[in-house]
Formats: sequence, structure tokens, C-alpha cells
Amino acid sequence: MIKVDNLSTSYKTIDGDIHVLNDLNFTINDNEIFGIAGESGCGKTTLLKTLYDIIEWPLNIDKGQIVLSGEKNGKEFSYKSGEIRKTWWNNIAYVPQAAQSVLDPITRLKKQFLDSIPAEDRKRETKEETLKRVADYLEELSLSKDILEAYPFQLSGGMRQRVIIALATFMSPNVVLADEPTTALDVVVQRGILMMLTRLQKELKNTMVIVSHDMGVHYQITDRMGIMYSGSMIELGPTEGIFEDPIHPYTTMLVNALPRVGDKSAKVGIPGRPPALKNPPPGCRFAPRCPYATVKCRASVPEFREIKPGRFAACHLLKEGGGMTSV
Ligand SMILES: Nc1ncnc2c1ncn2[C@@H]1O[C@H](COP(=O)(O)OP(=O)(O)OP(=O)(O)O)[C@@H](O)[C@H]1O
Ligand SMILES: [Mg+2]
Repeated sequence: MIKVDNLSTSYKTIDGDIHVLNDLNFTINDNEIFGIAGESGCGKTTLLKTLYDIIEWPLNIDKGQIVLSGEKNGKEFSYKSGEIRKTWWNNIAYVPQAAQSVLDPITRLKKQFLDSIPAEDRKRETKEETLKRVADYLEELSLSKDILEAYPFQLSGGMRQRVIIALATFMSPNVVLADEPTTALDVVVQRGILMMLTRLQKELKNTMVIVSHDMGVHYQITDRMGIMYSGSMIELGPTEGIFEDPIHPYTTMLVNALPRVGDKSAKVGIPGRPPALKNPPPGCRFAPRCPYATVKCRASVPEFREIKPGRFAACHLLKEGGGMTSV
């Protein structure tokens, strides 16, 4: 389980701080595919880096923390921000955005697999035994073991992405974080990757966190999802609920803008643009684009709260139990 506890982060720049994650509070459960959606620049990658504990200058945690806990091989574990990196590969793995560049182009994949296995595990078996396990695992994932002899540049983009996912999941981590795993791949290859991720989650019964700006990806594979807007989490809940009955005005506009089979009506985008993170508006960050915004919305930041069971949102206008107060 991942608990995001009161988390705020910022990038320190010479022109001042850019506050990217603002007071995030939510939980990602065991055995689920959790999606994170939102427009470009809203902070999805920053959130994933923070979950994976890559807190490197100029990024800084200003407040709060992440707690990663669970059980593996009968042993309970709990790590918080600053400690999570101790368990990289083992309890948590990360497929970064533009992951294709994480593979060393001039090293055979065989070596890259071996290098990803912690030393204490390597000591328990011979190199041949480890490679046999890797080869068996690749075959389980319908990848030929011959690729172990290949260099990354010899593989297609889709194949490289599969290898990266295989690499990330080889140690059966409790949590796999994947940042835009299907972006830049064509639709058929995308589908294959999504199927691979779903199948792996079912087998490992672990947690997968999938970042994508593509709502179609979330609709297809995630169980629950969070929608981010300008550095804040503005809605969170079961994916089906979010698509069928979005509650935050931003999510409603986002979902209504999606094409649907059989629907020939013209789709309208959301007018305006997200605010600059440097000098955000004082109240709700969506207020400048929200058709319902009131004086209160422009003045104070809405609290992220449970509106109805399992459905969270940050909006002053939402009533307990659902529905909007009349304005
Ligand atoms: N190294 C950095 N220094 C300063 N600001 C940064 C840095 N990296 C990111 N930012 C700021 O943080 C914001 C969020 O970036 P992030 O990469 O998390 O967004 P994203 O939602 O992943 O976007 P995309 O969909 O384009 O991948 C950006 O708008 C940018 O202003
Ligand atoms: Mg990103």
C-alpha cells in the first residue's frame, strides 16, 4: 500500500520556487491498477518520482511524506520517503517516461538484466542459473530468450518497452510505477503493452501505478484513478464511476470531451489553459476556467474530501453525497 500523506513538493529555481504538488492526500491499495491522469505539466511525473523516492535537486519535499508498506515472502515492510530507495527493484520498480533511454544502447540485454538483480540474490545462484530464470521469465511474457543476446538498438520501440517492463517486474515488486508506458507507440503495440501490464498485475497481485495523459488508457486498464490539475489532485475514485458520473467540474468537462462510439455530436474542448505553476491563482486553480466559479472559489483553496463513499474531490461547490450547491 502507498500512503501519500499531506505531500507538497517544489522545484527550487533561481526565479523562486515552483510549487508542483500541493497537499496531496490519498492511498493506493494493494492489488489494484491505479491511474494518474491530467494535462501536460500538471505534475504526474513529479508525483511518480516522489513515490519512487527520486528527490533530487531542484526537486524538494516541502511537507509530508510517502509511506510504502506491505508484505513480501511472509515479511512485513514499511519504508517512508528517504528510505524507499533501499528497496528499489525488490518492493518497488519504476518505468520512467521515455523509458527507452534507460537501456544502455551498447550493452547486451543479458548484462542489463543481471545488473538489475540485487547482489544478495545473485550470490544465491550461479550466473547461468540466474540467466535461466530470466529466460524462463521472458518466455512466460511471450518474449523470446534470444533477445538477451541483443543490444537495445536492435529491437523495435514496442519490444524495447516490453523488455523494460520485464526488467522492472522480474523481482516481483509489490509496486510497479509506469510513466506514460504507451505514449509514442502505435495503437496496436499500445494494446499489446496494456495487455502485458494487466496480465502481470493479475499474476503478481501487486500494485501498478500507471501515468497517462490518455483517458482511453485509464478506461481500458485502471481500477481506480486520480485526476490531477495544476499540481493538485482534484478527483479520485473508481475509474468506472469517474467515466460514468464525474463529480468535479474539470473531470466532467474532460470526460464530456471524449469521443464515444456511435455519438456523432461535436465535442468541445475545455476553453482556456491551466495556470502557470509559478504564480497560481489564490483560490481553486481551476476557477479561471470553471463555468460555476464563485467569489469563494477564487479566494480560497478547496479541500480534497470524500464526497460520497470512495469518491473524493476538491471543489467548494460539491455537496456531501454528490451534486452541486445551486449558484
Ligand atoms: N527540473 C525542473 N525544474 C523546474 N521546474 C520543473 C522541473 N521539472 C518539472 N518542472 C515543473 O513541474 C511541472 C510539472 O512537471 P511534470 O514533468 O511533473 O509534469 P507532467 O504532468 O508529467 O507532464 P507531461 O504530461 O508533459 O509529462 C512542469 O510544468 C514544470 O513547470
Ligand atoms: Mg510526465
